[in-house]
Amino acid sequence: MAEEIKKEAPANFKVTIDNITVEVAPGTTILNAARQIGGDVTPPAMCYYSKLKDSGGKCRTCLVEVAAGSTADPRPMPKLVASCRTTVMDGMVVKNITSERVLDARKGVVEFLLINHPLDCPICDQAGECYLQDLSYEHGTEGSRYEFKKRVFVKEDIGPYIQLHMTRCILCYRCVFVADQITDNRIHGVLDRGDHAEISTHISKAIDNDFSGNMIDVCPVGALTDKTFRFKNRVWFTKPVDAHRDCDKCCGKVTLWQRGNDVMRVTSRKDEWGEVQSYDGKPGWICNTCRFDKKKTSDWIIEGPTNINRHSVISQGHYLGLKMPKETLPEVMGGRNPKLLMDINKVSEVNSVELASLPGPATSKNFEKKEH
Ligand code: SF4
Ligand code: FES
Repeated sequence: MAEEIKKEAPANFKVTIDNITVEVAPGTTILNAARQIGGDVTPPAMCYYSKLKDSGGKCRTCLVEVAAGSTADPRPMPKLVASCRTTVMDGMVVKNITSERVLDARKGVVEFLLINHPLDCPICDQAGECYLQDLSYEHGTEGSRYEFKKRVFVKEDIGPYIQLHMTRCILCYRCVFVADQITDNRIHGVLDRGDHAEISTHISKAIDNDFSGNMIDVCPVGALTDKTFRFKNRVWFTKPVDAHRDCDKCCGKVTLWQRGNDVMRVTSRKDEWGEVQSYDGKPGWICNTCRFDKKKTSDWIIEGPTNINRHSVISQGHYLGLKMPKETLPEVMGGRNPKLLMDINKVSEVNSVELASLPGPATSKNFEKKEH
């Protein structure tokens, strides 16, 4: 008899999220149950990453309200819970976007995550594919109540491929889990705690194992960016295409980010949750050779354009194409080019050599040196 009970598949649990009911296996988290429904019902997740064991529970962006704990005990949970860390119960009722409390708390979480985050978007390589940017657009407020100085860090070089901007880090720990779980010898992690916590490589050692580049892909913000792509292009000007090659180290399935025929960047392929896609049940992490050394179209077999969500700014660029604005002045001026109304050097002393003789900072030695 005991044998028979063992063989029985566990009954599925019914959970209702934002008035939509779904059946999931026991042990499923609220977040993963919501992902089965999809769309806006799914809470945002900045630290959880289904392919990284033990991830989640750090950022609080996935908070939801549990309006009824289960059929057996329908009392609501008094506090909002992290949906990536809370498993469903049969008959559980969850509110995400239908809860004022959740939306209000999420605003607070965004404000908190931005406390130390610089307004770097105009010069950050992650702009256009940054989850914090999306989150603050959807849930943020235009102001901050924080009146103190933002954290500053001594700049740290973590090797030839990855650029670390610690000021942008939200301490989600994803990169630490990548280092721990898919590279051979982890040499970076989070040092210190609270306000002083930071990602570091322990005495600035370079991260030089074959799969270290995946840390760039899992970083939800621009704290870890690809040095070979840095400042080369805005992501919405590039065209993503799926490609593959025979690689003896990784799955070899990637997205090439092209500008014309130039391969500007190589990344792993992402699913609809922004996580690396799986192949045959295994995450498609890519090796550093594919990511950093194969930057020619001829290195790859092209499969076709990558499917990008049409709401993404990356798709927007493609709809618009890369047309340069038309110069209309000569047209309306009978073919003549406009004449400048003034010469800035004549009306302002800012760039004038005479400044060298004036008192104050403009007479610095540097300035004089340039003149000789
Ligand atoms: S560097 Fe990026 S991936 Fe690593 S903890 Fe900071 S935000 Fe997360
Ligand atoms: S995604 Fe749940 S706490 Fe970060």
